[in-house]
Amino acid sequence: MKKYAVFGNPIKHSLSPLIHHYFAKNLNINLIYKPILGTLGKFEKEAEEFLQQGGSGFNITLPFKQDAFKFSKINTESAKITKSVNTIFLKDGVVCGANTDGVGFIRDLKINIKYDIKNKNILLVGAGGAAMGIIPSILSEYPSSLKIYNRTYEKALNLCNDFKNLGPISIIKENYLEKEKFDLLINTTSLGINNVKFELPRGIFNKDAICYDLSYGKASHSVSSWAKKNNILFYDGLGMLLEQAADSFFIWEGKKPLVTESLRKILLEKL
Ligand code: ATR
Repeated sequence: MKKYAVFGNPIKHSLSPLIHHYFAKNLNINLIYKPILGTLGKFEKEAEEFLQQGGSGFNITLPFKQDAFKFSKINTESAKITKSVNTIFLKDGVVCGANTDGVGFIRDLKINIKYDIKNKNILLVGAGGAAMGIIPSILSEYPSSLKIYNRTYEKALNLCNDFKNLGPISIIKENYLEKEKFDLLINTTSLGINNVKFELPRGIFNKDAICYDLSYGKASHSVSSWAKKNNILFYDGLGMLLEQAADSFFIWEGKKPLVTESLRKILLEKL
């Protein structure tokens, strides 16, 4: 039986084992997918051990996505461009890395939510690993503008410099926000994990603006309460979680799993 895993720290609450077992069952594939609590500073050793013990591939979540990028011998375009890897797979015995976060995000937004980024003005809040994982995919959909707003200005600046060749990306400071009218707000910060209140003026968004939070479950409550209060349509990151998982599964098994409503329901009960 093929062995897969997800490395992260923390990892206890990961929904990935449930998602991948569900996909496998639906496709009549026998596999084991287990959560592995990675040790900080020992990713390479532990990842190598898993493969030595017969692992066929694995996912990587916080905080090891950059370590995984260094670990893989061959990186796909999605990994190279984001300098991070969430899916390790073997090709002729060689360790390869891909990043399915960006395509997962776009697929959820475009196919599930039916929202087209083209010609839209986007405000993306946050400038950490989560932002890095999706920015190239956003820019590939031809938005009018993508403005990055982050608590720490320098981090937003670095991110913009990394991606400025890919499209209309720029940084925005707090006092310039009031001059804007955005169509789409994307939250990539981790502020909801600590239940920190989310605040942005309603006036900087168009009447029919929508909000997408990469967080889900309790971590998305800060942004969802703000969106509700301000009458902005809100979507959490559960759809992206499912779509990026479906892409990883496809890379490993060559079969596209179905992301069904019943799977969504099962996950919602776990959150
Ligand atoms: P991830 O890989 O999940 O993106 P990260 O690299 O630690 O994690 O980045 C977290 C992001 O959330 C950062 O943009 C961080 O802002 P800073 O760059 O200023 O640290 C943002 N963030 C976390 N807590 C926040 C808070 N209370 N208010 C505003 N931004 C916050």
